[in-house]
Amino acid sequence: MALDIILLGPPGAGKGTQATRLESDHGMVQLSTGDMLRAAVKAGTPIGVQAQAVMDAGELVSDDIVSGLLGEKLDARGPDVPVIFDGYPRTATQAQVLDTLLSDRGRTLDHVIELEVDEDALVDRITGRFTCGSCGEGYHDRYKLPAVDGVCDKCGSKEFKRRPDDNAETVRTRMAEYRAKTAPILPIYDARGIVSRVDGMADMNAVSQAIEAILHPA
Ligand code: AP5
Repeated sequence: MALDIILLGPPGAGKGTQATRLESDHGMVQLSTGDMLRAAVKAGTPIGVQAQAVMDAGELVSDDIVSGLLGEKLDARGPDVPVIFDGYPRTATQAQVLDTLLSDRGRTLDHVIELEVDEDALVDRITGRFTCGSCGEGYHDRYKLPAVDGVCDKCGSKEFKRRPDDNAETVRTRMAEYRAKTAPILPIYDARGIVSRVDGMADMNAVSQAIEAILHPA
């Protein structure tokens, strides 16, 4: 049976960074609801038009919209492909929906990995973040610059972009949303004994090693 996990943590905790590494190192598939919503905004779909203002304000998009998007993407994957849920669930309702989505497909949730971080440091992480406009490789003004200034390490593109919700004011709202609506779902998974906590303030490789030890204990 496929190994399905949730990466949980506030904005900037490193969920996307670690999910990308798990994809390339372990053949897992990242299902990021943030990425799905940004794709809908870019494509100008009705969902994208509805979601854009909510995302720009740093608030949560409705449970129905996000859960619908996630279900479609999950169905596009084979039953044997291990999945990383990144940015979902974010509310108690979404946690219930995920249980149903998984059980209807004969899947089970194996691990919830919480990245524990210091919120003040996250503002710096997020406002310094940028990505390659062509392949999506992630960078940071201080922690991860391209080896050659202005050129993507991975694909050679010279186009980079920043997310419109990556400003200090919106980040504070996103964090408040996390504290109010997402952190309270952790006890649901604690009660099942599937939560592991990782120091998300450690360097990226150390975080990856800690996750590796949880997924594949020696
Ligand atoms: P989403 O795209 O999910 O954003 P987020 O949860 O705010 O998380 P981020 O992508 O900002 O951070 P991350 O934890 O992935 O960190 P990263 O690895 O990039 O959601 C965006 C919006 O969409 C939401 O606000 C909401 O409106 C909507 N939405 C999405 N899902 C939803 C849902 N389920 N329900 C309702 N609405 C939803 O790292 C950040 C930076 O730090 C990078 O530059 C990275 O290089 C650097 N970094 C990472 N790890 C380290 C490290 N260990 N040390 C130093 N630097 C590091």
